[in-house]
Amino acid sequence: MERSFIMAKPDAVERRLSAEIIGRFETRGLRLVGLKLIHPSRELAETHYAVHRERPFFNDLVEFITSGPVVAMVWEGRDIITVTRTMIGATNPVNAAPGTIRGDLAIEVATNLVHGSDSLETAEKEIALWFAPSELLP
Ligand code: RTP
Ligand code: MG
Repeated sequence: MERSFIMAKPDAVERRLSAEIIGRFETRGLRLVGLKLIHPSRELAETHYAVHRERPFFNDLVEFITSGPVVAMVWEGRDIITVTRTMIGATNPVNAAPGTIRGDLAIEVATNLVHGSDSLETAEKEIALWFAPSELLP
């Protein structure tokens, strides 16, 4: 079964939306196989977003993601990348459809509440970056 790394970002924790976000994936029928609250280090954040290193918003992105605790999760299910990315909505919440997490709960691109892996290859790397194998259900 396919797995993805999903993270409720610092704005989600700050706004007390962790349960709302976890609940959406649970009620959709996905299986939670890893979960922890963690205040990411700069090194972890820079590695996680390394693909964006040359982008103008990289520093702000790292500053933001290290600004407070996040809820790091691994979810499992059929077509997990498509299902979770569709539920999360467009990167810029202004363009995110109603019914999606960003479309219902966010308005700014920098504070768009949730991260979801964009491919199975990325998911594998992100899961290994954020979780030890012993922290995940078999
Ligand atoms: P994420 O990685 O966080 O799940 O978001 P995503 O795939 O939808 O978007 P991505 O292109 O990977 O960008 C990562 C995060 O960088 C911030 N961003 N800011 N100022 C900007 O133009 C800009 N573009 C992207 C967003 O917070 C985005 O989630
Ligand atoms: Mg991304």
